[in-house]
Amino acid sequence: MSHPDYLPTGRPVVGKRRSWGLLPEAERLGVGVVGLHEGHTMLVALRASGLCRAVAGCDLDEAKRADAVNATPGLWVNADYERLLERDDVDIVAIYTPDALHAGQIEAAFKAGKHVLCTKPLVNDVSVAERLTAAAKEHGKRLQVGQSTRFYEPFLQQRDLYEEGLFGEVECFDAHYNHRMDWYYEKSPWTVTETHWAYLGLSHPVDLVRWYLGDLSSVQAVGSISQLGLRYGCTKPDVIAAQFVSKEGKIGRAFGHYGFTELSKGRALIEGLLMGTKGTSLARYPELRHTYVSSDGVEHDDDFDHAFGGYHYRHELKGMHYGEFCNCIDSFAAALLSGGHNSPDLVEGLETVRVMNAVVRSLETGQTVHL
Ligand SMILES: NC(=O)c1ccc[n+]([C@@H]2O[C@H](COP(=O)([O-])OP(=O)(O)OC[C@H]3O[C@@H](n4cnc5c(N)ncnc54)[C@H](O)[C@@H]3O)[C@@H](O)[C@H]2O)c1
Repeated sequence: MSHPDYLPTGRPVVGKRRSWGLLPEAERLGVGVVGLHEGHTMLVALRASGLCRAVAGCDLDEAKRADAVNATPGLWVNADYERLLERDDVDIVAIYTPDALHAGQIEAAFKAGKHVLCTKPLVNDVSVAERLTAAAKEHGKRLQVGQSTRFYEPFLQQRDLYEEGLFGEVECFDAHYNHRMDWYYEKSPWTVTETHWAYLGLSHPVDLVRWYLGDLSSVQAVGSISQLGLRYGCTKPDVIAAQFVSKEGKIGRAFGHYGFTELSKGRALIEGLLMGTKGTSLARYPELRHTYVSSDGVEHDDDFDHAFGGYHYRHELKGMHYGEFCNCIDSFAAALLSGGHNSPDLVEGLETVRVMNAVVRSLETGQTVHL
């Protein structure tokens, strides 16, 4: 696939949103979404896409399929994933099912000749890495991790300014994702038994730490189960603190608490604090806010709520993910159309899974795990 009519940077267009380009409707890549809860958000997000269009949806739940058709008139829907994979109009399969299903669904998509966008955590089992790598290679298909935080405007601005050199070399990156999850246990009981918060929640801060520090050499983690976690039957930690040392000797930290009482005016659910040789930057989610200082000592507190609120959460609840899902899939589509690199790709995604697996091993053994 190659097409000249795309913008490689994704930099903001008229200050309101990012764009990776605009193709005529008929030339856009067809997306088939499996798992239509968070996947429904992807369907709505695709309305703003310039490079992709929603063509198919799949969910076991009939009501979810009906909601998807309401949101996207004309959408083909089915309960059988194999049927979606048979469709010629699906170029990219977007996977939003429970964590434990991702590996099998990614492999099946590659075998059917589809590219894949898979939500975070990419997988929650490190042993599938070789199988997925081999399937991608054998069928010549590519994968993008739907790591939404990277594509949220404050985190994109933080990255842009870092790449421009404003903060110098990163010396330390400190990230957290804290979120009270009683509503999630009730909506999605699989979260108690079929995954681990080291994957489901910590994938956001671990990905950010890896994005800035590169390959890591060691992980040391401690954890506990909150009172709320115990109430919902958790047997593995839902409070996790992990510290990392990178191959270059830099320090990173990832924290997650999934049972606490949120203090939303004081701390954001997700924060990425970059401490560099020339400056410091704090990106937040769901606030559309980036606070930073560089070597001139002037502190900036940029609030993008008016500029980007319409795009990121369509003036609904903050944190609805529309803009970041659209940014993520359009950056992937631009890479597919141009033959350029996409990020985070399968290699990066599997490396993050290897780090999360090391967090679990450190939690279980109480030892530092060397990667
Ligand atoms: N920031 C983000 O990017 C973000 C946010 C929330 C959730 N997620 C991820 O999305 C995934 C789904 O989370 P959720 O909150 O939507 O879960 P959910 O339990 O609400 O929804 C999962 C959906 O998948 C469907 N499903 C299950 N098995 C299926 C199968 N075999 N074939 C077709 N459909 C099937 C279910 O019917 C359900 O509608 C998880 O991996 C989660 O980590 C990502």
